[in-house]
Amino acid sequence: MSTSPPPSGFKKGLTQYGDSGFSLFLRKAFIKGAGYTDEALDRPVIGIASTGSAYNPCHGNMPQLLEAVTRGIQLAGGLPMPFPTISLHESFASPTSMFLRNLMSMDTEEMLRAQPMDAVVLIGGCDKTVPAQLMGAASANVPAIQLITGSMLTGSHRSQRVGACTDCRRYWAMYRSESIDDAEINDVNNQLVASVGTCSVMGTASTMACLAEAMGLTVPGGASPPAVTADRMRVAEQTGQQAVWLARQRLNITQILDERALENGMRVLLAIGGSTNAIVHLAAIAGRLGFELDLQALDRMGRETPVLLDLKPSGEHYMEDFHAAGGMTTLLRELKPLMHLDAMTVTGRTLGEEIDRAGTGFAQNVVRPLHRPIYPQGGLAVLQGNLAPGGAIIKASAADPQLMEHEGRAVVFENLQDLAERIDRDDLDVNAEDILVLKNIGPKGAPGMPEAGYMPIPRKLARAGVKDIVRISDGRMSGTAFGTIVLHVTPESAIGGPLAWIKTGDRIRLSVSERSLQWLISDEELARRQAAQPVSPPSAERGYRKLYLQSVSQADQGADFDFLTPPGPRSKVPRTPQG
Ligand code: FES
Repeated sequence: MSTSPPPSGFKKGLTQYGDSGFSLFLRKAFIKGAGYTDEALDRPVIGIASTGSAYNPCHGNMPQLLEAVTRGIQLAGGLPMPFPTISLHESFASPTSMFLRNLMSMDTEEMLRAQPMDAVVLIGGCDKTVPAQLMGAASANVPAIQLITGSMLTGSHRSQRVGACTDCRRYWAMYRSESIDDAEINDVNNQLVASVGTCSVMGTASTMACLAEAMGLTVPGGASPPAVTADRMRVAEQTGQQAVWLARQRLNITQILDERALENGMRVLLAIGGSTNAIVHLAAIAGRLGFELDLQALDRMGRETPVLLDLKPSGEHYMEDFHAAGGMTTLLRELKPLMHLDAMTVTGRTLGEEIDRAGTGFAQNVVRPLHRPIYPQGGLAVLQGNLAPGGAIIKASAADPQLMEHEGRAVVFENLQDLAERIDRDDLDVNAEDILVLKNIGPKGAPGMPEAGYMPIPRKLARAGVKDIVRISDGRMSGTAFGTIVLHVTPESAIGGPLAWIKTGDRIRLSVSERSLQWLISDEELARRQAAQPVSPPSAERGYRKLYLQSVSQADQGADFDFLTPPGPRSKVPRTPQG
């Protein structure tokens, strides 16, 4: 007995009126109202998740990208259907874009489910957008391909090359230490973001772009072209064409985004000295597929994975230099011995086949060979200890080697407001050997796990020339930041993690070589403090904030909503023992 193929195109996911024939009749009538012919409506329907917004300059090339994707889809015989979703920019989302990432992922997932399409092109770039789109698409499990908006160009300030946002922080630190004046800080403000596009260093946006390509979810070479270049538009056109192929093959995202792909993503994260934020996003993407990211395995992988990419904040160059050096193709060629080469990609070829198709490389100085890395070990380390029983992260490649083995006195700030009020006071009792601790900036604490883990150097120390100091919090930091900064302390203070009870004057020992974060306190004293000052987790009366506070998980689980991950036990990725 022959079975009819599953519905495709506009016949998919009919609106429920109790009469499917009428539903289709009505749908066609409405779309014909927009001037479509039957011939157009018979083609594979390719949704384009458009995230253009005046509030999002990192996606400022959206009109050109949409035009190029549309051209590619039409060249391949598909019907492009752009539609809007939430867009998030780092500087225009309060309290923090991370508070809204899960909302964007829900928007993306439900629009992919609700609207008829045979495949989708996801256009994202700024930090939270690519993770949100991949989380949503993984849950919807449709044929999907990621298009990155691309990085901004670098600018020039008094003959110094500058780019957001590592240089934003560098100049702001100079301003705080009073080594540059009001006029100069205003001048540099005009130059730091020289065009539309995402941050020009290896921040979270660039990291997620590289991970998307490493996981096989973009066309080859899709990560690195800057936003305003012809290469970016050609990638967009190719992406449109490839989406039609994915639709015809019915190749769903979970046939590409499997354990091998996730492990490849982890490997590349380490080799590029990528953003610590990507660990949280990878954990969330893995969680949507029923996996748990094994942080101990990530640490072991870090010990065997050298940092090869010489990009700020860990190195010297910018994203446009990485693109000129061949982009991810160059990196993956070097990293080949450490990758799962049999992992599938959106081209229908494996990662190994794509690396081989790219041919041999050329002389360049941005991606180092495996035998001559920038750092012999991966840039990220996972710490454990009585201050962080669920783990904590440090970006060792952006830290001061002198401070990575350090014991000091804690100088504690209870929350962001306390930090803002006291950090610059001349009577703040702090010296360069102390350890700054900030509480209540975890997933529930602030809420939204803001990128406030990069606490400023107290002004009195900055004036004295102190460039780095150990800082510890349950929050995140921008991938563009640098310093000896311990992040993602889990469980967070707001839900009663040990961090909740630390006080100024306590002593902390950090040993990155031993992967240890120890609070030198007796069990009796900790129990006494816990009994004296119980913690009540934050709550809200209504709306999204209520949903968020009730449902958000801790950083090691991806700070996703518990109801968005599949029920039941999760298997760990990577599955194979590392090291
Ligand atoms: Fe959008 Fe940096 S602010 S990528």
